[in-house]
Amino acid sequence: MTRTAAPDVPVLDPLPLLKGLAGLRKLTGMYPPGHPAILQKLNELNDSIQRHLCQAATLRIDIVHGDAHLDGLSFKHDSEANTRIIQELSELGIDSVHMREGVTRDELLALSEVLWQLREAPAGQPLEAQLERRNIRHISLGKLLPLDTRWRSEQWADAPGDIYDSAYAESLDLMQRTFEEVTAGKQVELAMVQQIVQLLVRKVTRSSAALAQILAVKMYENLTYCHSVNVATLSLLIAEQIGFDEETTGAIAEAALLHDIGKTRIPLDVIRKPGALDKRERRMMETHTTLGAEVLLDVEGLRPLTPTVALEHHRAIKGSGYPDLGEGVVPHFLSQLVSVADIYEAMTGARTYQDPAFPEQACLVLARLAGSKLNPAMVKAFVNAITFFPLGSVVRTDRDEMGVVTQINTREPLHPVIALVTADYGRVPGLVDTSARDGTGAYQRHIVEALRPPEGLKLGAFVTAA
Ligand SMILES: [Fe+2]
Ligand SMILES: [Fe+2]
Repeated sequence: MTRTAAPDVPVLDPLPLLKGLAGLRKLTGMYPPGHPAILQKLNELNDSIQRHLCQAATLRIDIVHGDAHLDGLSFKHDSEANTRIIQELSELGIDSVHMREGVTRDELLALSEVLWQLREAPAGQPLEAQLERRNIRHISLGKLLPLDTRWRSEQWADAPGDIYDSAYAESLDLMQRTFEEVTAGKQVELAMVQQIVQLLVRKVTRSSAALAQILAVKMYENLTYCHSVNVATLSLLIAEQIGFDEETTGAIAEAALLHDIGKTRIPLDVIRKPGALDKRERRMMETHTTLGAEVLLDVEGLRPLTPTVALEHHRAIKGSGYPDLGEGVVPHFLSQLVSVADIYEAMTGARTYQDPAFPEQACLVLARLAGSKLNPAMVKAFVNAITFFPLGSVVRTDRDEMGVVTQINTREPLHPVIALVTADYGRVPGLVDTSARDGTGAYQRHIVEALRPPEGLKLGAFVTAA
């Protein structure tokens, strides 16, 4: 879930509803009308829908970029079964299901029959006409119109506003130039890439200010060049935690930096599209892996695994994902490492259709993907490196103070050192070690939650540059 509802508002997960609908659809296809299996599923689905409609006049489920949204709230679902259900509906051409007060059991049953028939005749009568003909008046189905997501979307900046570390600023600048040149059809400039790698290895990963900007919730929608610098830095944190030699560390930084270079070959309006991608756009987007590998194979002097990582970074350790490289082909460990950093970076960044996730939410998603999609050892190394409340996190203590994490206590990851924030978002002089205990041995403070960084809070006042 990327947003947290107020504790007194019951949150209904859209996925069981979609599952119920998908299940009912299959049952109506398999069994004769009136079969008990159909009736039971229908009753369950009807019950949960009616419960929701008691609280709100409408129920809107939208599938945006493969995630189910309920009434505009995004929910993260990453198990394969869940993805399949969402995909099934998407492939029928359904990206949204909206129900209004007054919807009946009969309408739900008729809807599931319409959905089943859609499989045979997807290009038949327009959907509205089919619903109308079946007397379904309280449900509408449809493809998401871009407007449909835009009305509730937020406009985010393209990159962090103030950059507090000069090496990080320089890396971003050089990477932006690299991306611009490759977009214009030029080759990747090796010297520029090597310069960024040096900056990242020697300075950025040593700078609390840079790490804070990369690790904590990012209140901006970063363009690919910025995402690339961030993924490379995060990959270096994993590498450091595992303890690779200098040569491998350099290879990791280079590969991570260029993993998404293939996106320079994809139209920017597809990359930045605010709503759901259609099938054609999704396929186009997926080609950034093969295109990236092609771009990189042409560059002399790059390390041999750099094109491999571009090719494989969306593949799972179990051998699924894209591009299709054949059953059971396991990605190289460098690709596995970059995948962990890539997913974390993408989740903690903002999108027009999605609030950025908090680090701890992103870590929980990584933990759930460990073993199927991601390498568990890499996930563990990453989570150990960044901890639950990474540098730069804005947190609230049980004394109702707001603080910014300035230092991690490796022995006590849940009790970092923080700088307290004044009412006007300035810094209270000095630091507070939340691992400090009182005379009885109890902690003097606990962190109770991470907060979205308030507008007006300047991270630079709290963390130090290299
Ligand atoms: Fe990618
Ligand atoms: Fe990426």
